Amino acid sequence: MRIPLIAGNWKMNKTVTEARSFVEAVQGKLPAADVVETAIAAPALFLQTMLEANTEDVLRIGAEACYYEDDGAYTGETSPRALHEMGIPYTIVGHSERRRYFNETDDVINRKVQAVFRNGMTPIVCCDETMGRRESGEKIHWVVNQVTAALKGVSPEDAAKIVIAYEPSWAIGSGTSASTDQAEEGCYLIRQTLADIYSDDLANGVRILYGGSVKPDNIAGLMAKNNVDGVLAGGSSLDETSFIQLANYQNL
Ligand code: PGA
Repeated sequence: MRIPLIAGNWKMNKTVTEARSFVEAVQGKLPAADVVETAIAAPALFLQTMLEANTEDVLRIGAEACYYEDDGAYTGETSPRALHEMGIPYTIVGHSERRRYFNETDDVINRKVQAVFRNGMTPIVCCDETMGRRESGEKIHWVVNQVTAALKGVSPEDAAKIVIAYEPSWAIGSGTSASTDQAEEGCYLIRQTLADIYSDDLANGVRILYGGSVKPDNIAGLMAKNNVDGVLAGGSSLDETSFIQLANYQNL
């Protein structure tokens, strides 16, 4: 059974004090993790404070990015080994903003996926899709290629644990989500790609999220789709009331 995963991506927002208040405010208001799992991916410099504030230990505290080497002379980067030692279970890899503003290529993303697994964490791998590509009909190849490249050399044991997010870049931060059918189509395609690379069994166990302008008023429709196992929410994960609503989407 695929346990739904409602994940937030804070991007470069908030301060350490604000991060602590958020975590304190959601304690006792999230569903049990074996019913609906909840996670917030936050900047590395907030993580220790958030872990300390997370007394109930239902919310998973994740990272937004890390480097592909465990240690070394890489000024300013975040070590996946250090994240794991802190007790961080998830790291986002390959968000479209990392691809666009920080020139992360499919090869870099593949190395990061391997580094995250090597250090005992689970990557939430993001796949992008632009409106131009959607209109030109190229989207299918694009998403398939991104998933295939991200998983190069990844063993079935590791791939079975991965989380993949389908995030059309025209929907990210735009205020307009993809339609529920578009979200389902993208997530279905990713599952088929996993089945082609590995097996139907493996593909049926992997959680695939939709991301791009998810809000309390559209989450229920997205989550009702067969292949949408959760969401990755940016803007609407910043406010604790709205994140609590997303997490409790089954009661909206
Ligand atoms: P958004 O961001 O919910 O603000 O559109 C989603 C994301 O970038 O992961």
